[in-house]
Amino acid sequence: APYPSAEAIESRTPPYSKLLTRFKKVRQVLGPNRHLTLAEKILYSHLDDVEESLLTNTSNGANIRGNANLKLKPDRVAMQDASAQMALLQFMSCGLGSTAVPASIHCDHMIVGEKGADTDLPASIQGNKEVFDFLESAGKKYGIEFWPPGAGIIHQSVLENYSAPGLMMLGTDSHTPNAGGLGAIAIGVGGADAVDALVDAPWELKAPKVLGVCLDGELSGWASPKDVIMYLAGKLTVRGGTGYIIEYFGPGVDTLSCTGMATICNMGAEVGATTSLFPFSPGHIPYLQATHRGSIAAKAAELAVMAEGRNILRPDAKAEYDQVVNINLSTLEPHINGPFTPDLSTPLSKFSDLVAEKNWPTTFSSGLIGSCTNSSYADMTRAESLVKQATAAGLTPKADFFITPGSEQVRATLDRDDTLSTFESAGGIVLANACGPCIGQWKRTDGVQKGDENAIFTSYNRNFPGRNDGNRATMNFLASPELVTALSYAGSTTFNPMTDSIPTPDGTQFRFKPPQGQDLPSAGFARGNAEFLPTPGVPDPTTEVKVSPTSDRLALLEPFPPFPNHELKGLRVLYKVKGQCTTDTISAAGPWLKYKGHLPNIAENTLIGAINGETGETNVAYDLDGKTSGIPDLAKRWKAQGKEWIVVAEHNYGEGSAREHAALQPRYLGGRIILAKSFARIHETNLKKQGVVPLTFANEGDYDKIKACDEVESVGLQDVLHNASDGQVELIFSREGKETVRVQTKHTLSSGQCGFIIAGSALNLLAIKGRE
Ligand code: F3S
Repeated sequence: APYPSAEAIESRTPPYSKLLTRFKKVRQVLGPNRHLTLAEKILYSHLDDVEESLLTNTSNGANIRGNANLKLKPDRVAMQDASAQMALLQFMSCGLGSTAVPASIHCDHMIVGEKGADTDLPASIQGNKEVFDFLESAGKKYGIEFWPPGAGIIHQSVLENYSAPGLMMLGTDSHTPNAGGLGAIAIGVGGADAVDALVDAPWELKAPKVLGVCLDGELSGWASPKDVIMYLAGKLTVRGGTGYIIEYFGPGVDTLSCTGMATICNMGAEVGATTSLFPFSPGHIPYLQATHRGSIAAKAAELAVMAEGRNILRPDAKAEYDQVVNINLSTLEPHINGPFTPDLSTPLSKFSDLVAEKNWPTTFSSGLIGSCTNSSYADMTRAESLVKQATAAGLTPKADFFITPGSEQVRATLDRDDTLSTFESAGGIVLANACGPCIGQWKRTDGVQKGDENAIFTSYNRNFPGRNDGNRATMNFLASPELVTALSYAGSTTFNPMTDSIPTPDGTQFRFKPPQGQDLPSAGFARGNAEFLPTPGVPDPTTEVKVSPTSDRLALLEPFPPFPNHELKGLRVLYKVKGQCTTDTISAAGPWLKYKGHLPNIAENTLIGAINGETGETNVAYDLDGKTSGIPDLAKRWKAQGKEWIVVAEHNYGEGSAREHAALQPRYLGGRIILAKSFARIHETNLKKQGVVPLTFANEGDYDKIKACDEVESVGLQDVLHNASDGQVELIFSREGKETVRVQTKHTLSSGQCGFIIAGSALNLLAIKGRE
């Protein structure tokens, strides 16, 4: 059968006429003199009730960004296999027969990278069969397109099939903004938020501010789209995008390929941005056509010629941004970011000096290219051009060299066009079309042991300690695939392919010429193995969803009890976390991914990466009697004693991903409040959805006055929850019966979110509303 079917194309076309009608209403409400950014146009045209969202709580629509609570109705949902389990378990507990909007499931995170796709994929399917069977059966029952293991990485499949200019979608993965490369507003969320969209409940978002990035000039030579976001990450830092949508504009936009724009949007997650997006631009049309969506390209092109006031796919000429950053693509240098944080950004020309200054390793063991960030046809053919040059000079890579294609479509096309055989002849190992080493699913075979300090270069997006191989001493340096490829031939961290040479076997010196590639394959994309195509998005109520009651990987969810109707008393500080606390710290990935669908089992990893703010130890918690244990053990002990607890933390708590387990697990183990200096946006929302109260210090210095095992009492919390969501909560800390500090706190709870907390969780509230 032809793929995609006419029905599939229909369901993948944004509802343009509905959006235009709403956009007209937005224009009416905001008046003729408002100059809107593209982000505002698309977001506001997805409001459930335009007037209510834009006029309530704001001064007549003038102060929307950063203030208004938007109630949105997204067009689509995408879920990856690890997060889909909990999202679907939650969706199932609402008792509906099908999803309210089109949705898709992508099996990518649970596939190991070790020896190569041919052996790794069957082994991973075997090892995770129970989960894949559950996801497939749930997909069939509820009409969710199911992409089997091996089909590709969620963001690549979304770009190839679902993303479109003007679309708004939610994805249960933090790199969902990748789809913004094709002009969509695509936001990474937790499973509970995805469930909102799946059941047609409005999804709430504090209206983001808009950071405009004006691109001028044109990339050339070694500079690639990845370098745009690597440079920007250095400028903005991991917190700089918090509360913002990053919107690209300016003449440089028209010089970029669609997949290049997707790479830039993908890594916007690394600066904490709500999402990133590009306007409908020339690079989109050939990409949509090449991916069987010429009809969407034609519709978008019609909309894009409308007069400014009615053009929903590009910003107004005088759009007002909250901040503007200018980048000249013509003078942009390649960058290397890391280790351990994606915002430590160094121009290539300065990198060898930094290696010497910081005493970082001068050699590295593995170069890994691909992943959802950088596995496009352009990325791979540019890398291929370097491999061909080096092979002709008689060179082989000094570091192990791994290639992860982002999708079966890209893999099959690269296979047909001999790119993969070029990599393989040079000694490269082609891994399955999946996340693999990007998410801790990397079985290293190079002898590097846990604790061994070593360096790797990857074209991935994220480099927190332990992210790739579970070894916190592995330094992951992020770079473009071109740079990773060239450096792999030198095996040296100080090699600069723009200026340095490599000695060849015949004694001459070899210098790379700048990489060259093709944005799109001249012969079109190959479809690849038909087994990797998705199931159709049509519900089949006769399908039985497979969950074994004896499973240690999947467990149906028990609802959390509602919030007590009195102030909290006798809470105890479980742990005072020092420094960076990512969602990996709170709910580790790697081997734990296995238990994503089983809350009691995965809760055994709660906060095991957290550093004790008083002792500097990792995962060592102290009970009242001074006895030590792992954090999950202490939490379980207190839970058994009926003792609820709070965690105290520093800045950007929960940064990194949309992983809702990082909120569910503390809630399951008795966590009531997380008190931090600041929160990462997605995680803060996830906490609220699971009924945990996120509070921030009004005075950050109070952090120093708190100790583990302090008793805590709340004042004003009931008032905030029931009457005045703009009120304040005070926490009184005491030790051995004596008050030690009164902490004034701030919160961002909307009245809707207070409803989640009162009901026990957002899901409880949905179920209550469903019954009413
Ligand atoms: Fe997968 Fe890594 Fe992307 S985990 S979705 S390839 S960021």
